[in-house]
Amino acid sequence: MASERARPKRRKSFELTKRPATSRAGKTLRGEPARKELDKIEIASRDEIAALQLDRLKWSLQHAYDNVPRYRAKFKAAEVHPEDLVTLEDLAKFPFTAKDDLRDSYPFGMFAVPREQVIRVHASSGTTGKPTVVGYTAKDIDTWASLVARSIRAAGGRRGDLVHVAYGYGLFTGGLGAHYGAEKLGCTVIPMSGGQTDKQIQLITDLRPQVIMCTPSYLLVVADECRRLGIDSQRLSLLVGIHGAEPWTEAMRQEIEERFAMDAVDIYGLSEVMGPGVANECVETKDGLVIWEDHFYPEIVDPATGQVLPDGSKGELVITSLTKEAMPVIRYRTRDLTTLLPGTARSMRRLARLTGRSDDMLIIRGVNVFPSQVEEMILKLGLYSPHYLLEVRREGRLDALDVVVEPRDEAVSMEAAQQGVKILEHDIKTFIGVSARARVEEPGTIARSMGKARRVIDLR
Ligand code: DLL
Repeated sequence: MASERARPKRRKSFELTKRPATSRAGKTLRGEPARKELDKIEIASRDEIAALQLDRLKWSLQHAYDNVPRYRAKFKAAEVHPEDLVTLEDLAKFPFTAKDDLRDSYPFGMFAVPREQVIRVHASSGTTGKPTVVGYTAKDIDTWASLVARSIRAAGGRRGDLVHVAYGYGLFTGGLGAHYGAEKLGCTVIPMSGGQTDKQIQLITDLRPQVIMCTPSYLLVVADECRRLGIDSQRLSLLVGIHGAEPWTEAMRQEIEERFAMDAVDIYGLSEVMGPGVANECVETKDGLVIWEDHFYPEIVDPATGQVLPDGSKGELVITSLTKEAMPVIRYRTRDLTTLLPGTARSMRRLARLTGRSDDMLIIRGVNVFPSQVEEMILKLGLYSPHYLLEVRREGRLDALDVVVEPRDEAVSMEAAQQGVKILEHDIKTFIGVSARARVEEPGTIARSMGKARRVIDLR
């Protein structure tokens, strides 16, 4: 009989992760959505997902080949034709697309439909040179809205919620992407955009939204401002925060969840591929971002060789769009480093938390350092605020790294913060392997960002 009982029941994987509603600081937080609310494909079998991907991938390759001269030329140079794709793995034969392809085709050269069918453009401001322009047909906008709606639902948002959007509106995809998704889910949108922190707080206090969408670093600016105004941020109405557009850590999640007594989940995306909502974490598991595989085919490659790596390996994320009309992307090199993991709360695979872009990586005296690694060390001590800065300088022939921090709040004196510096330097040396000098500045000194935080100043 014992063996009878020990035999695990056959269940759909997504049922293994049930989290009922929980509570925090007297608030009832959201659990997983009811199964009937999910899109069928979110919990379809792997075979069904793969079959759909193969169909759509064939269409997407042909669409790019037929309508974008640059893709046709690249395919020809690599001696491949869309018909060479028989299985999903055959995609590895096709050439990569990089940011330079988009830059060289500025502004509309990567569009696969006549410009008149493009109903919106967005653009990402490159640090160097011209921005990258991306475009959407009416159907693309609708797909994007549906995927952001799915993302908000995975995060714990529900039809009827008030959603406060504090991502920037404009050429950046964050604001409008979140906006259309929240509307599609059937929410009431507060299109606040970034900045004007006091006004943000007034609206949150008076309109009582359940959901907030903004960068994690900006939410901490809001938290600090609440404290300054004597407002208890835990007592605000917020139940769900949906944060992304920049790397953040588990320590940062904890800080946000504590300060707002809510759930904080990760959202990923990039303008070249669509915008926010390419992948999103589920509130019931908070174990990485489910990539919406019915619209995007992910691969992980070795950033140096371009070789496809098996699931579970860390490498660069490469994405192929499966349904995009205006601007299909074939094997787009995101430069984002992550790992593909099996599905848990949904059948689709997950991306491990993104640790940073390969181009954000600092190399200090030969040691690879990501700002997010330093962030973990800073927050772990409980003495410093999440507003920090890495300054890289040249000292003689060598690189030097300064880590600039501020005391966490009034409870931490400058003196106590100064005393922690040695421990911080020691932790950075021990866990990251680089010698750094830490420096404490007066609270409020480090520049705050209204959107993506700037963590590194390179003075070399
Ligand atoms: O940041 C889209 C977005 C808006 C995502 C709002 C999430 C929320 P871009 O400006 O094109 O688009 O920047 C894309 O930001 O390649 C990553 O390096 C980084 N990034 C985005 N989400 C995350 C995340 C938007 N959750 C670039 N974790 C990407 C880490 C992220 N990095």
